[in-house]
Amino acid sequence: ARSYSITLLPGDGIGPEVVAVAKDVLSVAGSKEGVELRFREMLMGGAALDAAGVPLPDETLAAARASDAILLGAIGGYKWDNNEKHLKPETGLLNIRAGLGVFANLRPATVLPQLVDASTLKKEVAEGVDIMVVRELTGGIYFGKPRGFGTNDKGEETGFNTEIYSAAEIDRIARVAFEVARKRGGKLCSVDKANVLEASMLWRKRVTAIASEFPDVELSHMYVDNAAMQLVRNPKQFDTIVTNNIFGDILSDEASMITGSIGMLPSASVGESGPGLFEPIHGSAPDIAGQDKANPLATILSAAMLLKYGLGVESAAKRIEAAVTETLDNGFRTGDIYSPGTIVLYLHINYEYLDSLTK
Ligand code: NAD
Ligand code: IPM
Ligand code: MN
Repeated sequence: ARSYSITLLPGDGIGPEVVAVAKDVLSVAGSKEGVELRFREMLMGGAALDAAGVPLPDETLAAARASDAILLGAIGGYKWDNNEKHLKPETGLLNIRAGLGVFANLRPATVLPQLVDASTLKKEVAEGVDIMVVRELTGGIYFGKPRGFGTNDKGEETGFNTEIYSAAEIDRIARVAFEVARKRGGKLCSVDKANVLEASMLWRKRVTAIASEFPDVELSHMYVDNAAMQLVRNPKQFDTIVTNNIFGDILSDEASMITGSIGMLPSASVGESGPGLFEPIHGSAPDIAGQDKANPLATILSAAMLLKYGLGVESAAKRIEAAVTETLDNGFRTGDIYSPGTIVLYLHINYEYLDSLTK
Protein backbone atom coordinates (compact mmCIF):
# COMPACT_ATOMS: atom_id res chain seq x y z
CA ALA A 1 0.00 0.00 0.00
CA ARG A 2 1.09 3.54 -0.61
CA SER A 3 2.27 5.24 2.55
CA TYR A 4 2.82 8.93 3.28
CA SER A 5 4.05 10.96 6.24
CA ILE A 6 2.02 13.97 7.35
CA THR A 7 3.26 16.64 9.72
CA LEU A 8 0.46 17.98 11.92
CA LEU A 9 0.84 21.48 13.31
CA PRO A 10 -2.23 22.02 15.54
CA GLY A 11 -1.03 25.37 16.91
CA ASP A 12 -3.24 27.46 19.18
CA GLY A 13 -6.85 28.28 20.06
CA ILE A 14 -9.25 26.28 17.91
CA GLY A 15 -6.29 24.93 15.90
CA PRO A 16 -5.95 21.69 17.94
CA GLU A 17 -9.75 21.24 17.95
CA VAL A 18 -10.13 21.35 14.17
CA VAL A 19 -6.90 19.46 13.40
CA ALA A 20 -7.97 16.53 15.61
CA VAL A 21 -11.14 16.09 13.56
CA ALA A 22 -9.39 16.59 10.22
CA LYS A 23 -6.73 14.02 11.15
CA ASP A 24 -9.35 11.33 11.74
CA VAL A 25 -11.14 12.20 8.53
CA LEU A 26 -7.83 12.00 6.65
CA SER A 27 -7.00 8.59 8.09
CA VAL A 28 -10.36 7.10 7.21
CA ALA A 29 -10.45 8.60 3.72
CA GLY A 30 -6.88 7.41 3.09
CA SER A 31 -7.43 3.88 4.35
CA LYS A 32 -10.60 3.54 2.24
CA GLU A 33 -8.38 4.18 -0.78
CA GLY A 34 -5.58 1.87 0.35
CA VAL A 35 -3.34 4.77 1.40
CA GLU A 36 -1.60 4.66 4.73
CA LEU A 37 -0.99 8.01 6.40
CA ARG A 38 1.56 8.31 9.19
CA PHE A 39 1.13 11.39 11.38
CA ARG A 40 3.70 13.27 13.39
CA GLU A 41 2.57 16.18 15.53
CA MET A 42 5.00 19.06 16.02
CA LEU A 43 5.00 22.33 17.96
CA MET A 44 4.26 25.62 16.23
CA GLY A 45 3.07 29.11 17.16
CA GLY A 46 2.17 30.01 20.74
CA ALA A 47 2.29 26.35 21.77
CA ALA A 48 5.91 26.23 20.62
CA LEU A 49 6.71 29.55 22.34
CA ASP A 50 5.42 28.19 25.64
CA ALA A 51 7.19 24.85 25.34
CA ALA A 52 10.40 25.75 23.51
CA GLY A 53 10.72 29.54 23.58
CA VAL A 54 10.47 30.04 19.81
CA PRO A 55 7.44 30.11 17.46
CA LEU A 56 9.00 27.72 14.93
CA PRO A 57 11.48 25.26 16.47
CA ASP A 58 14.17 23.93 14.11
CA GLU A 59 12.86 20.37 14.61
CA THR A 60 9.41 21.47 13.45
CA LEU A 61 10.70 22.94 10.20
CA ALA A 62 12.99 19.93 9.67
CA ALA A 63 10.14 17.47 10.27
CA ALA A 64 7.86 19.45 7.97
CA ARG A 65 10.48 19.46 5.21
CA ALA A 66 11.07 15.74 5.55
CA SER A 67 7.37 14.85 5.35
CA ASP A 68 5.11 14.48 2.33
CA ALA A 69 2.62 17.18 3.38
CA ILE A 70 1.81 19.46 6.30
CA LEU A 71 -1.59 20.16 7.87
CA LEU A 72 -1.71 23.27 10.02
CA GLY A 73 -4.54 24.43 12.31
CA ALA A 74 -4.05 28.03 13.36
CA ILE A 75 -1.70 30.02 15.52
CA GLY A 76 -1.85 33.11 17.71
CA GLY A 77 -3.67 34.45 20.74
CA TYR A 78 -3.92 37.34 23.18
CA LYS A 79 -1.23 35.86 25.39
CA TRP A 80 1.50 36.45 22.83
CA ASP A 81 0.11 39.58 21.13
CA ASN A 82 2.60 41.93 22.77
CA ASN A 83 5.66 39.75 22.19
CA GLU A 84 8.57 41.16 20.24
CA LYS A 85 8.24 40.42 16.56
CA HIS A 86 10.64 37.46 16.46
CA LEU A 87 8.74 35.90 19.36
CA LYS A 88 5.26 36.18 17.85
CA PRO A 89 3.30 33.08 16.80
CA GLU A 90 2.62 34.83 13.47
CA THR A 91 6.37 35.07 12.81
CA GLY A 92 6.53 31.28 13.09
CA LEU A 93 3.82 30.98 10.46
CA LEU A 94 5.57 33.37 8.08
CA ASN A 95 8.85 31.54 8.65
CA ILE A 96 7.45 28.11 7.88
CA ARG A 97 5.85 29.43 4.67
CA ALA A 98 9.17 30.99 3.65
CA GLY A 99 11.16 27.99 4.89
CA LEU A 100 9.11 25.62 2.75
CA GLY A 101 9.16 28.02 -0.21
CA VAL A 102 5.40 27.71 -0.66
CA PHE A 103 4.87 30.90 -2.67
CA ALA A 104 1.49 30.01 -4.18
CA ASN A 105 -1.50 29.97 -1.85
CA LEU A 106 -4.76 28.69 -3.36
CA ARG A 107 -7.87 29.81 -1.49
CA PRO A 108 -11.12 28.57 -3.04
CA ALA A 109 -14.32 30.39 -2.12
CA THR A 110 -17.11 28.10 -3.22
CA VAL A 111 -20.71 28.64 -2.20
CA LEU A 112 -22.09 25.17 -1.51
CA PRO A 113 -25.76 24.86 -2.47
CA GLN A 114 -26.63 23.78 1.09
CA LEU A 115 -25.12 26.97 2.51
CA VAL A 116 -26.64 29.62 0.27
CA ASP A 117 -28.89 30.69 3.14
CA ALA A 118 -25.89 30.98 5.47
CA SER A 119 -24.37 33.71 3.31
CA THR A 120 -24.91 37.29 4.41
CA LEU A 121 -25.42 38.17 0.76
CA LYS A 122 -28.75 37.80 -1.03
CA LYS A 123 -29.43 34.32 -2.35
CA GLU A 124 -29.29 35.40 -6.00
CA VAL A 125 -25.93 37.09 -5.43
CA ALA A 126 -24.31 34.23 -3.49
CA GLU A 127 -25.72 31.22 -5.31
CA GLY A 128 -23.20 29.48 -7.57
CA VAL A 129 -20.20 31.60 -6.58
CA ASP A 130 -16.98 29.69 -7.27
CA ILE A 131 -13.83 31.80 -6.98
CA MET A 132 -10.22 30.74 -6.65
CA VAL A 133 -8.00 33.33 -5.02
CA VAL A 134 -4.34 32.75 -5.87
CA ARG A 135 -2.41 34.66 -3.23
CA GLU A 136 1.34 35.26 -3.46
CA LEU A 137 2.56 34.01 -0.07
CA THR A 138 6.29 34.48 0.44
CA GLY A 139 6.93 38.03 -0.75
CA GLY A 140 5.57 41.56 -0.72
CA ILE A 141 5.09 43.73 2.33
CA TYR A 142 5.10 40.73 4.70
CA PHE A 143 8.78 40.11 3.99
CA GLY A 144 10.09 43.30 2.30
CA LYS A 145 13.06 45.19 3.68
CA PRO A 146 13.70 47.72 5.04
CA ARG A 147 11.22 47.27 7.84
CA GLY A 148 11.20 48.17 11.47
CA PHE A 149 10.74 50.99 13.92
CA GLY A 150 12.56 54.30 13.82
CA THR A 151 12.34 58.03 14.33
CA ASN A 152 11.47 60.67 11.75
CA ASP A 153 13.13 64.06 11.39
CA LYS A 154 10.62 65.57 13.81
CA GLY A 155 11.82 63.08 16.41
CA GLU A 156 8.55 61.13 16.28
CA GLU A 157 8.38 57.35 16.56
CA THR A 158 7.75 55.58 13.23
CA GLY A 159 6.98 52.09 12.01
CA PHE A 160 7.68 51.11 8.40
CA ASN A 161 7.44 48.25 5.93
CA THR A 162 8.33 47.77 2.29
CA GLU A 163 6.08 46.41 -0.44
CA ILE A 164 8.56 44.88 -2.89
CA TYR A 165 8.32 42.28 -5.65
CA SER A 166 10.91 41.11 -8.14
CA ALA A 167 9.90 40.28 -11.71
CA ALA A 168 10.80 36.63 -11.04
CA GLU A 169 8.50 36.46 -8.01
CA ILE A 170 5.62 37.92 -10.03
CA ASP A 171 6.26 35.70 -13.05
CA ARG A 172 6.13 32.48 -11.04
CA ILE A 173 2.91 33.30 -9.19
CA ALA A 174 1.37 34.55 -12.45
CA ARG A 175 2.21 31.23 -14.16
CA VAL A 176 0.59 29.26 -11.33
CA ALA A 177 -2.50 31.47 -11.55
CA PHE A 178 -2.78 31.14 -15.34
CA GLU A 179 -2.46 27.34 -15.02
CA VAL A 180 -5.19 27.32 -12.37
CA ALA A 181 -7.46 29.58 -14.44
CA ARG A 182 -6.89 27.39 -17.52
CA LYS A 183 -8.22 24.35 -15.62
CA ARG A 184 -11.19 26.34 -14.26
CA GLY A 185 -13.33 28.88 -16.12
CA GLY A 186 -10.48 30.29 -18.22
CA LYS A 187 -10.72 33.79 -16.71
CA LEU A 188 -8.01 35.43 -14.62
CA CYS A 189 -8.42 38.77 -12.84
CA SER A 190 -5.19 40.27 -11.52
CA VAL A 191 -5.84 42.57 -8.57
CA ASP A 192 -3.39 45.34 -7.75
CA LYS A 193 -2.99 49.02 -6.86
CA ALA A 194 -1.08 49.98 -10.00
CA ASN A 195 -2.55 53.48 -9.94
CA VAL A 196 -0.44 54.25 -6.86
CA LEU A 197 2.18 51.62 -6.02
CA GLU A 198 5.35 50.90 -8.02
CA ALA A 199 5.32 47.27 -6.85
CA SER A 200 1.85 47.00 -8.40
CA MET A 201 2.95 48.73 -11.62
CA LEU A 202 5.61 46.03 -12.06
CA TRP A 203 3.04 43.38 -11.05
CA ARG A 204 0.66 44.48 -13.80
CA LYS A 205 3.46 44.69 -16.38
CA ARG A 206 4.75 41.18 -15.62
CA VAL A 207 1.30 39.54 -15.41
CA THR A 208 0.48 41.09 -18.78
CA ALA A 209 3.76 39.76 -20.23
CA ILE A 210 3.17 36.23 -18.90
CA ALA A 211 -0.34 36.27 -20.42
CA SER A 212 1.21 35.71 -23.85
CA GLU A 213 2.13 32.17 -22.70
CA PHE A 214 -1.56 31.49 -21.99
CA PRO A 215 -3.53 32.73 -25.01
CA ASP A 216 -6.49 30.58 -23.96
CA VAL A 217 -6.93 32.45 -20.66
CA GLU A 218 -8.79 35.76 -20.62
CA LEU A 219 -6.85 38.24 -18.46
CA SER A 220 -8.30 41.35 -16.81
CA HIS A 221 -6.92 43.80 -14.25
CA MET A 222 -8.70 45.46 -11.35
CA TYR A 223 -7.69 47.86 -8.59
CA VAL A 224 -7.97 46.28 -5.17
CA ASP A 225 -10.44 48.81 -3.77
CA ASN A 226 -12.79 48.16 -6.67
CA ALA A 227 -12.23 44.40 -6.29
CA ALA A 228 -13.30 44.56 -2.64
CA MET A 229 -16.49 46.28 -3.75
CA GLN A 230 -17.14 44.00 -6.76
CA LEU A 231 -16.79 40.91 -4.55
CA VAL A 232 -19.92 41.82 -2.65
CA ARG A 233 -21.71 43.54 -5.57
CA ASN A 234 -21.43 40.70 -8.07
CA PRO A 235 -19.05 37.94 -7.00
CA LYS A 236 -20.05 35.69 -9.92
CA GLN A 237 -18.06 37.91 -12.31
CA PHE A 238 -14.87 36.33 -10.85
CA ASP A 239 -13.35 33.01 -11.78
CA THR A 240 -9.68 33.06 -10.73
CA ILE A 241 -8.09 36.02 -8.95
CA VAL A 242 -4.34 36.50 -8.62
CA THR A 243 -2.97 39.04 -6.19
CA ASN A 244 -0.14 39.91 -3.84
CA ASN A 245 0.36 38.70 -0.31
CA ILE A 246 -1.52 41.38 1.63
CA PHE A 247 -4.37 41.97 -0.82
CA GLY A 248 -4.87 38.20 -1.01
CA ASP A 249 -5.03 37.97 2.76
CA ILE A 250 -7.75 40.60 2.96
CA LEU A 251 -9.79 39.63 -0.12
CA SER A 252 -9.89 35.95 0.84
CA ASP A 253 -11.40 36.73 4.24
CA GLU A 254 -13.96 38.88 2.42
CA ALA A 255 -14.65 36.12 -0.13
CA SER A 256 -15.06 33.56 2.66
CA MET A 257 -18.08 35.41 3.97
CA ILE A 258 -19.87 34.95 0.64
CA THR A 259 -19.69 31.19 1.30
CA GLY A 260 -21.32 31.58 4.71
CA SER A 261 -18.37 31.72 7.07
CA ILE A 262 -14.63 32.06 7.36
CA GLY A 263 -14.89 28.62 8.95
CA MET A 264 -15.52 27.18 5.47
CA LEU A 265 -12.42 28.30 3.55
CA PRO A 266 -9.52 25.87 3.09
CA SER A 267 -6.18 26.59 1.48
CA ALA A 268 -3.25 24.88 -0.20
CA SER A 269 0.21 26.44 -0.35
CA VAL A 270 2.65 25.02 -2.82
CA GLY A 271 6.12 25.82 -4.10
CA GLU A 272 8.35 24.65 -6.92
CA SER A 273 9.30 21.48 -5.05
CA GLY A 274 8.97 19.93 -1.61
CA PRO A 275 5.90 19.31 0.51
CA GLY A 276 2.85 21.56 0.44
CA LEU A 277 1.32 23.30 3.43
CA PHE A 278 -2.43 22.98 3.96
CA GLU A 279 -4.37 25.19 6.36
CA PRO A 280 -7.74 26.85 6.86
CA ILE A 281 -7.61 30.57 6.14
CA HIS A 282 -9.08 31.44 9.53
CA GLY A 283 -7.11 32.10 12.69
CA SER A 284 -7.10 30.64 16.18
CA ALA A 285 -10.49 32.26 17.03
CA PRO A 286 -9.66 32.93 20.69
CA ASP A 287 -13.23 34.15 21.23
CA ILE A 288 -14.63 30.63 20.74
CA ALA A 289 -11.60 28.45 21.57
CA GLY A 290 -12.20 25.66 24.09
CA GLN A 291 -15.98 25.88 23.67
CA ASP A 292 -16.46 23.07 21.16
CA LYS A 293 -17.98 25.58 18.72
CA ALA A 294 -15.44 25.86 15.91
CA ASN A 295 -16.39 24.92 12.38
CA PRO A 296 -13.94 22.19 11.34
CA LEU A 297 -14.92 22.24 7.66
CA ALA A 298 -12.20 24.67 6.52
CA THR A 299 -9.60 22.31 7.98
CA ILE A 300 -11.33 19.16 6.72
CA LEU A 301 -11.50 20.69 3.24
CA SER A 302 -7.81 21.64 3.60
CA ALA A 303 -7.17 17.97 4.31
CA ALA A 304 -8.97 17.18 1.05
CA MET A 305 -6.69 19.66 -0.74
CA LEU A 306 -3.73 17.93 0.93
CA LEU A 307 -4.82 14.61 -0.55
CA LYS A 308 -5.47 16.11 -3.97
CA TYR A 309 -2.66 18.62 -4.47
CA GLY A 310 -0.16 17.34 -1.90
CA LEU A 311 -0.29 13.59 -2.37
CA GLY A 312 -2.12 13.22 -5.67
CA VAL A 313 -4.73 10.88 -4.13
CA GLU A 314 -7.74 12.53 -5.68
CA SER A 315 -10.11 9.64 -4.93
CA ALA A 316 -9.57 10.10 -1.18
CA ALA A 317 -10.06 13.85 -1.52
CA LYS A 318 -13.37 13.18 -3.27
CA ARG A 319 -14.46 10.98 -0.36
CA ILE A 320 -13.91 13.85 2.03
CA GLU A 321 -15.79 16.30 -0.18
CA ALA A 322 -18.65 13.81 -0.44
CA ALA A 323 -18.72 13.39 3.34
CA VAL A 324 -18.90 17.16 3.79
CA THR A 325 -21.76 17.36 1.30
CA GLU A 326 -23.59 14.53 3.01
CA THR A 327 -23.19 16.05 6.44
CA LEU A 328 -24.57 19.37 5.20
CA ASP A 329 -27.38 17.58 3.35
CA ASN A 330 -28.31 16.03 6.69
CA GLY A 331 -28.76 19.54 8.06
CA PHE A 332 -25.87 19.46 10.53
CA ARG A 333 -24.18 22.80 11.13
CA THR A 334 -21.84 24.58 13.48
CA GLY A 335 -23.19 27.91 14.76
CA ASP A 336 -21.34 30.07 12.25
CA ILE A 337 -23.23 28.52 9.30
CA TYR A 338 -26.60 28.08 10.95
CA SER A 339 -29.69 29.00 8.98
CA PRO A 340 -33.32 28.32 9.89
CA GLY A 341 -34.23 24.66 9.46
CA THR A 342 -30.74 23.33 10.23
CA ILE A 343 -29.35 21.81 13.43
CA VAL A 344 -26.39 23.26 15.30
CA LEU A 345 -24.08 20.61 16.73
CA TYR A 346 -21.01 20.88 18.86
CA LEU A 347 -17.71 20.28 17.14
CA HIS A 348 -17.13 16.85 18.65
CA ILE A 349 -20.40 15.63 17.18
CA ASN A 350 -18.94 16.50 13.80
CA TYR A 351 -17.31 13.08 14.11
CA GLU A 352 -20.54 12.25 12.32
CA TYR A 353 -18.47 13.14 9.28
CA LEU A 354 -16.46 10.00 9.87
CA ASP A 355 -19.58 7.87 9.85
CA SER A 356 -20.70 9.25 6.54
CA LEU A 357 -17.19 8.63 5.18
CA THR A 358 -17.27 4.97 6.01
CA LYS A 359 -20.57 4.30 4.25
P1 NAD B 1 -9.88 34.65 13.37
O1 NAD B 1 -9.97 34.10 12.01
O2 NAD B 1 -9.18 33.80 14.38
O3 NAD B 1 -11.34 34.96 13.92
C1 NAD B 1 -12.20 35.92 13.31
C2 NAD B 1 -13.65 35.61 13.68
O4 NAD B 1 -14.06 34.45 12.94
C3 NAD B 1 -13.86 35.29 15.14
O5 NAD B 1 -15.10 35.79 15.57
C4 NAD B 1 -13.86 33.77 15.17
O6 NAD B 1 -14.61 33.21 16.24
C5 NAD B 1 -14.48 33.43 13.82
N1 NAD B 1 -13.96 32.14 13.33
C6 NAD B 1 -12.73 31.91 12.82
N2 NAD B 1 -12.58 30.62 12.51
C7 NAD B 1 -13.75 30.02 12.81
C8 NAD B 1 -14.22 28.67 12.71
N3 NAD B 1 -13.45 27.67 12.23
N4 NAD B 1 -15.49 28.40 13.12
C9 NAD B 1 -16.27 29.38 13.61
N5 NAD B 1 -15.88 30.67 13.72
C10 NAD B 1 -14.63 30.98 13.32
O7 NAD B 1 -9.17 36.07 13.24
P2 NAD B 1 -8.69 37.10 14.39
O8 NAD B 1 -9.67 37.09 15.50
O9 NAD B 1 -8.41 38.34 13.69
O10 NAD B 1 -7.32 36.51 14.90
C11 NAD B 1 -7.16 35.69 16.05
C12 NAD B 1 -5.74 35.18 16.13
O11 NAD B 1 -5.49 34.28 15.05
C13 NAD B 1 -4.67 36.26 16.02
O12 NAD B 1 -3.63 35.92 16.90
C14 NAD B 1 -4.20 36.17 14.58
O13 NAD B 1 -2.89 36.62 14.38
C15 NAD B 1 -4.32 34.70 14.35
N6 NAD B 1 -4.51 34.29 12.95
C16 NAD B 1 -3.87 33.16 12.57
C17 NAD B 1 -4.07 32.65 11.31
C18 NAD B 1 -3.39 31.40 10.93
O14 NAD B 1 -2.92 30.66 11.79
N7 NAD B 1 -3.31 31.06 9.65
C19 NAD B 1 -4.95 33.31 10.43
C20 NAD B 1 -5.58 34.47 10.85
C21 NAD B 1 -5.37 34.95 12.12
C1 IPM C 1 -3.62 34.09 7.19
C2 IPM C 1 -3.26 34.90 8.41
C3 IPM C 1 -1.77 35.19 8.43
C4 IPM C 1 -1.44 36.03 7.21
C5 IPM C 1 -1.23 35.87 9.70
C6 IPM C 1 -1.67 35.17 10.96
C7 IPM C 1 0.27 35.96 9.67
O1 IPM C 1 -4.02 36.07 8.46
O2 IPM C 1 -3.10 32.97 7.07
O3 IPM C 1 -4.43 34.52 6.38
O4 IPM C 1 -1.58 37.27 7.24
O5 IPM C 1 -1.02 35.45 6.21
MN1 MN D 1 -5.60 36.11 6.97
